[in-house]
Amino acid sequence: MNRAIPENIIDDIRARCDIVDLISSFLPMKKAGSTRWKACCPFHEEKTPSFVVDNQRQRYHCFGCGKGGDIFSFMMDREGVDFPNAIHLLAGRCGVIIPEKTYSSPAQRQVAEQRTDQRQRLYKINEDFAAWFADNLKRNPGSPVGNYLATRNLTGEIINNFGLGATPDGWDNSLKFGLQRGYSEAEMLDAGILTRNEQGRVYDRFRNRLMFPIWNEQDKVVAFSARTIEKESQGAKYVNSPETPVFRKSSILYGLAKARRGMNERKSAIMCEGQLDVIAMHRAGFTNTVAPQGTAFTDEQARILKRYTDCLYIAFDSDSAGRKATLRALELTLPLGFELRIIQFPPDTDPDTVYASSGESGIKQLVDGSVDFFEFILGEIGTMHDKTSPVGKSRIIADIIQYLHKMTDHVSRELYLNRLAETLNVRFETVFKEMNKFKSKPQYAKQSHDLQPQVTSEATANEATSTPQIEKAEEKLLRMTLIDETVANRLVAELPHENISNTIIGQSLHEVIRLSMDGEWQNSIASLTEFERTHNNHKLSMILLDATTQLDDKQKEKSIRDCIAVINKHHKDNSKAKLKQRLKNAETAEEKYKIMQELQNMIKNSSCKTL
Ligand code: CTP
Ligand code: MN
Repeated sequence: MNRAIPENIIDDIRARCDIVDLISSFLPMKKAGSTRWKACCPFHEEKTPSFVVDNQRQRYHCFGCGKGGDIFSFMMDREGVDFPNAIHLLAGRCGVIIPEKTYSSPAQRQVAEQRTDQRQRLYKINEDFAAWFADNLKRNPGSPVGNYLATRNLTGEIINNFGLGATPDGWDNSLKFGLQRGYSEAEMLDAGILTRNEQGRVYDRFRNRLMFPIWNEQDKVVAFSARTIEKESQGAKYVNSPETPVFRKSSILYGLAKARRGMNERKSAIMCEGQLDVIAMHRAGFTNTVAPQGTAFTDEQARILKRYTDCLYIAFDSDSAGRKATLRALELTLPLGFELRIIQFPPDTDPDTVYASSGESGIKQLVDGSVDFFEFILGEIGTMHDKTSPVGKSRIIADIIQYLHKMTDHVSRELYLNRLAETLNVRFETVFKEMNKFKSKPQYAKQSHDLQPQVTSEATANEATSTPQIEKAEEKLLRMTLIDETVANRLVAELPHENISNTIIGQSLHEVIRLSMDGEWQNSIASLTEFERTHNNHKLSMILLDATTQLDDKQKEKSIRDCIAVINKHHKDNSKAKLKQRLKNAETAEEKYKIMQELQNMIKNSSCKTL
């Protein structure tokens, strides 16, 4: 899912997946000629069918709204997914297995195939266990888990829809079931269904708990979250599957596959804290709701959501932990350009309790009453300082600018600055100046989500060019920064932003350095994976694949120094050449003098740097 999908796989899917079969699994169609079928268009409202599917050409077209395409575009539009995900959905339907990468040597290929096999096996184990847990619950409605669900008012329909299940009490029920299904102890340990104590004894991880299957973006069960059903439990309230080759907590959003349509229709997503909240929101009709999976919301999850929608509602608890988490989520989502709103819950409530006490209308009222993120921040920060005193105002401005400066849309940022000025009764220019102070600190420019080169009016706009030598150096540095955070941190100081080229590799390097500055180095691979997907760059794809190789310390140090030197020297030579050209073309003596001075400065600075 992370890398460019080989062309032959796409062809394979195209060959196996018939467009008429595919579309008729979504809508009723009528034969309308030897190669054609007709239906009411799924993409706009209509009473007489003008949506035509052509069997021979393997394409569809709507003569009403003009939408048309092939199997891939149909899935993208219908399911609201991007191209790679459409490929995965279709591959799943027609049984094509997508290899992780095309490999050059047979040995490499074998390793890759083993890994793919292991993943398939893990999917299968999870799927089998999900069915078994659900079955346990259905067959024993009077069991402790069944009784617990009744107290939470979870009905048959919801149980089915979210695949809820139960694990029996005991240490080896799952173990026995798995062995009977032909899974080895080792496989079930890998999948996280079993666990092992310090003495080495293997036993069921989930016992006497309410089971929530966790689905990935392709709607496959990859893990479980298990809630205790006891009031004063000695164990944890939730026990989650560990990370496995198919489950990375930081990149999974609970309910995403179910919320896709809802996000598309409502043009927004709602994010709340947990599984029961997601279920309550879906019951209340907000089928665009998801939740981070047993972790704090991550940058990676934010980027995933951004693929689906530009508007995000945050619906965390109203306690102090929830409000803190909201501020943190804002820090992650503001740079991505989301429109952000906060749904505020009364003290000691969450979506689940509101739904239980006041149903759909209670939830709807809270969503309708959501506030703009700025209002929320103002409320949070406003209460920390004295809004009426000069010092208080100054602190509020400084704190709020910490958030506003993260916005990449400069027009809305200015509007918020204006609101801040008005609220505190301070001149706009004053607030604006504070913001500029922030900007003029030497720092790496935030880039927009798709990492397009930034065009700014400032003199530092990135003009760096590339040569094969530079390309190599940047590539090496990128490899190293992805493996070793300290290398990335070092480049923050030693490799000025404007010296890095605008190539895909240069932009990637810039992004890793920027993330490191923000203390988010660990999100680098995720961010670049996303970038690679849109640009399909083979070199970057390869670098991302190798990002686990170890570095030899001595070799590393020399390599870093050489690469930095090559890039910085190239940049300096370039600048010098440009200045010399300008000197040649200068018409007045005054102009010449100025350029000479610049040249001298440049030489002076560079001799300082090499000291
Ligand atoms: N969570 C977790 N591990 C814990 C506690 C919580 O993984 N020990 C995660 C779960 O995904 C949970 C979410 O954090 O759904 C929110 O936790 P909490 O608010 O405590 O639970 P609720 O979902 O509100 O459950 P309940 O209504 O039953 O209290
Ligand atoms: Mn709750």
